[in-house]
Amino acid sequence: MSQAIAPGARIGIVGGGQLGLMAALAARAMGYRVGVLDPDPCCAARPLADLFVAAPFDDVGGALELARRCAVITAEIEKVPYPVLAAMAEKAPVRPSPEVLRIVQDRLRQKQWLARHAFPTGPYHAAKSAAQLATALTRLGGDCFIKAAAGGYDGRGQIRVGPGAADAISLWRELGATACVVERALPLRAEISVLAARRPSGEIAIFPPALNHHRRRILDWAVLPAPIHPDLLDRARAIALAMANTFHLEGLLAIEMFIRSDRTLLVNELAPRPHNSYHASEIACQTSQFEQLIRAICNLPLGGTGIVRPAAIKNLFGQRWAKSEDPPFDHSLRDPQVKLRLYGKRPLRPDRKMGHLLAAGDSPRDALARVERAAGAANKSVFP
Ligand SMILES: Nc1ncnc2c1ncn2[C@@H]1O[C@H](COP(=O)(O)OP(=O)(O)OP(=O)(O)O)[C@@H](O)[C@H]1O
Ligand SMILES: [Mg+2]
Repeated sequence: MSQAIAPGARIGIVGGGQLGLMAALAARAMGYRVGVLDPDPCCAARPLADLFVAAPFDDVGGALELARRCAVITAEIEKVPYPVLAAMAEKAPVRPSPEVLRIVQDRLRQKQWLARHAFPTGPYHAAKSAAQLATALTRLGGDCFIKAAAGGYDGRGQIRVGPGAADAISLWRELGATACVVERALPLRAEISVLAARRPSGEIAIFPPALNHHRRRILDWAVLPAPIHPDLLDRARAIALAMANTFHLEGLLAIEMFIRSDRTLLVNELAPRPHNSYHASEIACQTSQFEQLIRAICNLPLGGTGIVRPAAIKNLFGQRWAKSEDPPFDHSLRDPQVKLRLYGKRPLRPDRKMGHLLAAGDSPRDALARVERAAGAANKSVFP
């Protein structure tokens, strides 16, 4: 069995965005040093790093420099090419493993893996040409999501088409003439995510599901715990446990799930890393997702995942920033239950995740109402 990696060692994080920043904060709080690799020298996690490698994610030389100087490597993004991950794994353990990342980073491979292990997914077809795209759309009835197999996030690399939409050739071009997965658009009752942690010893901890709300295909708010039927909680947990074991996971795995109107659960997609929908774990759970990541990759005993208090988050996007300075947030912080998290990301872009508001509440509904109020949003949110 692999040894624990003790505080004082350096943890290498590939990707210096907000997830890398918060993982670095948790590592620092536990006495670890932090190495970060990112192409952007001004990335969010840089100030936390005592070793910074400025390199593109497909640069083997940069990756090797990080791996040589770190006791363990983890990634906050999925798009690191497999050969780069495999090269790093020769120098330091990469957790989750390059094989897990290889499966997850390609939507098609991911769907095939889910099917092979009998995890439930919605109907889909693969398409590797305009002709195959046309066939897929016909077979699925035309009301579909077309998703590029590689590289998408926050709804990018996706096209939502209704029945009788544009012809397949223009859709194929619009997507960038790239292999894709075509999914039937499903009527959803709700969306949840489940976060699993497993360490090399085999110990597993599953967080209670979060209820997630998307607007324009980007996560808008999330609340912990998801106020859903106990049967659904049990099923979501069973799927997460089985996946963590099947993958021999070392680290975190977030599983996005759809709840259909008939209360069946389907797996939407996987992310082998901390997840935006679990930011509320910072105050809702006995252990935050970032501390759990550090414990898991360092093979330390995992922290408790129980709910301490319901909590919700609301994402803050670039459009809220009229100028390059941060807007005032004193109004948002008037409720003493509300906290502000800003990532310090620049440049500003509409739909870029710049930070989030976080609120504890007496119930999931109360936490959500508080965070919506703090964000200046009318509380129209409806629970399933
Ligand atoms: N087949 C589908 N049926 C109904 N809704 C869907 C379907 N696929 C995607 N969506 C909606 O679009 C959202 C984003 O889709 P998906 O998770 O595949 O994209 P993504 O760009 O990888 O998102 P992210 O990286 O932000 O999680 C989903 O959370 C859901 O709200
Ligand atoms: Mg998603």
